[in-house]
Amino acid sequence: MYVCICRAVTEKHIETAVQGGARRLRDLRQQLGVTEECGRCAQCAKQCLDGAVEQACASACSSVADPAYPQLLIAA
Ligand code: FES
Repeated sequence: MYVCICRAVTEKHIETAVQGGARRLRDLRQQLGVTEECGRCAQCAKQCLDGAVEQACASACSSVADPAYPQLLIAA
């Protein structure tokens, strides 16, 4: 789905940006150009950003929740 029509930015672009470290709407503006023209995409871009960040954090937390994690830390 397109999030920003003016810059042809999709949800997938936002997910990729989050995987690359984007965490704020400002990051998406700098990397993808969202909100730089008409600005109507701001709310939707923020929602997509929050969802992608939540998903990225859940993935990171699930790897930390690995039962072998303490042993991995001790072994390191
Ligand atoms: S829809 Fe994103 S700047 Fe216009």
